Amino acid sequence: MRTTPFILLGLLAIFSAAITSCTSETLPSGKSQAILEMKRANDFHSYSRPEEAVVTHLNWTASIDFATRIITATAAYDIQAAADAERILFDCVDLNVTGVVVDGAPVDWQLGPAQPIMGQPLSIPISKDSKQVLISYQSSPDAGALLWVEGEQPFLFTQSQAILARTWIPCQDSPGIRFTYEAHVDVPTGTMAMMSATNPTEQALDGHYDFVMDQPIPSYLLALAVGNVEFRSVGAHTGVYAVPELIDAAAYEFAEMEELLIAAENLYGKYAWERYDLLVLPAAFPFGGMENPRLTFATPTIIAGDRSLVALVAHELAHSWSGNLVTNATWDDFWLNEGFTVYFEQRIMESVYGREVSEMLATLSYQGLVDEVDQIMDTNPDDTHLKLHLQNRNPDDGMTAIAYDKGYFFLRLLEETVGRETFDSFLKTYFETHSFSVMDTDRFIDYLKTNLLNTPELLATVDLSAWIFGPGLPANCPSVGSKRIERVDAALQAWESGAMSTNDLPWNDWVYQERYRFLSNLDDNSSADRLAELDEAWAISQTGNNEVLFAWLEQSIRSHYGPSYARLESFLVEIGRRKFLTPLYGAMIETDQADLAKRIYALARPHYHSVATGTMDELLNWPG
Ligand code: BES
Ligand code: ZN
Repeated sequence: MRTTPFILLGLLAIFSAAITSCTSETLPSGKSQAILEMKRANDFHSYSRPEEAVVTHLNWTASIDFATRIITATAAYDIQAAADAERILFDCVDLNVTGVVVDGAPVDWQLGPAQPIMGQPLSIPISKDSKQVLISYQSSPDAGALLWVEGEQPFLFTQSQAILARTWIPCQDSPGIRFTYEAHVDVPTGTMAMMSATNPTEQALDGHYDFVMDQPIPSYLLALAVGNVEFRSVGAHTGVYAVPELIDAAAYEFAEMEELLIAAENLYGKYAWERYDLLVLPAAFPFGGMENPRLTFATPTIIAGDRSLVALVAHELAHSWSGNLVTNATWDDFWLNEGFTVYFEQRIMESVYGREVSEMLATLSYQGLVDEVDQIMDTNPDDTHLKLHLQNRNPDDGMTAIAYDKGYFFLRLLEETVGRETFDSFLKTYFETHSFSVMDTDRFIDYLKTNLLNTPELLATVDLSAWIFGPGLPANCPSVGSKRIERVDAALQAWESGAMSTNDLPWNDWVYQERYRFLSNLDDNSSADRLAELDEAWAISQTGNNEVLFAWLEQSIRSHYGPSYARLESFLVEIGRRKFLTPLYGAMIETDQADLAKRIYALARPHYHSVATGTMDELLNWPG
């Protein structure tokens, strides 16, 4: 009996140790030394040295000026410094730093030399007892993260991933460093400000907005948007923001968001971020979607009128677990964010819309992956490894189908190897165990070996090194099968050989995935006459589905189908989504229409975001 108190004490000690180690990673004001001592993968894309001094909380006060395209702000960080700390380092690109104060006293700060992709290190002298640094600064009108849309409906949005947060806020811009934040933002009246945080649902008459994000996030998830938008609730935890002209269409298109959220929770555990809202951005947004916590940013090009493109919402929602809760430690580990997210996205789609739909999507991904692997193998085979080597390169180079779809097929192989039930409970535990924390490829492999592939047979079946450190698509890549896609392929063959007439194509029975498959697999040498037949029978140029339109425009370029060119031009001038731009401009170049490409690009370029112009300038050798 006498031992009981000791046992209890021992148990208490174990529990409190568990709580402390958890607190340091999950709680907003986690002040534990553990934050500093956390084992960190080396992130080549940040100047920060978190072992010496690391941020824990940001208080951002900003004023947004559309006329000058400048953000004037102060970033006050709570920090933790190691016993031997002499300075804290931040990442900056083109920031005009005007003063730095540490614990109330001005200090002698220094900006180091600028490197092309990395920008400049901002070095601030501190000691082990320093608690807060306050940086006053202005952003540059050309800040890479920002897109200022002019006109009657001014709009501003940021895109911080991968390393553009440092163009609008001095920060320790590494995905392995998390901090909570609050913000106080002044914007022009008649606009609403929104962030990756608690958001308003009404416009403030005085243009002042306050935000809180009390769960720690990495800097690439810092986000701001400003525009004349309205809010519409679509479910208990879900809603949409859009400009007045689009709010009805958006509320209809995304009406199933709550259902997607519930499906996601049923798969891999409770949603951690309280609300899941979606903001419809201007068409210049360079991506389909961006998983900013609590508020996904999305392109308006997924508003098709029939809810056919919601897989993108499933994808960004899935990031609320894979990416936002468990975050890739460096951009070399990007597949841990995106591959897991595509897998999760597919599972949400299967659970809400059925296996037939999700298998059609998987079949399209597979084709895209095989094409892209072929292409990358010619130039840079190492870029087909899941684990990347992006040192001295732009992390943007890692945004290929490899992280997404090779990552997906790797997880699908794991599922097929151990069985769905086992895999699901593995994934659920993985998210729970590593919530608000980081993961790198080597640690994931260890975790996998301990918790899933724990026999030599299982390891041999999967072949981790071929998938993660090897090129191309390993021979044991799972196969996908879709009867509906097979029937499309048969129809295409029959139509091309003349065995099926244009009017006999079941175009009207096809959903978008089938139409997309048909158009993207048309023979590149189809004649303009044959495209004219299709257009006449099925009014393809008039489609409201931008994925179908995109596939159609690409074929029109390859077949020199003149009647599509006006639509091509308006599409490219209006829409800045890089996934559409690269193939369309690329097709013009490949088919000796570079002059046309450059003429359209000259008109369109001023509307694009820096992420898009960065890629297109190179592709088109602009300005030449
Ligand atoms: N997080 C990505 C977007 C991203 C990745 C931006 C890397 C910058 C650097 C987002 O979740 C994404 O993957 N978007 C895709 C959507 C998709 C695969 C459904 C896109 O925009 O195309
Ligand atoms: Zn993603």
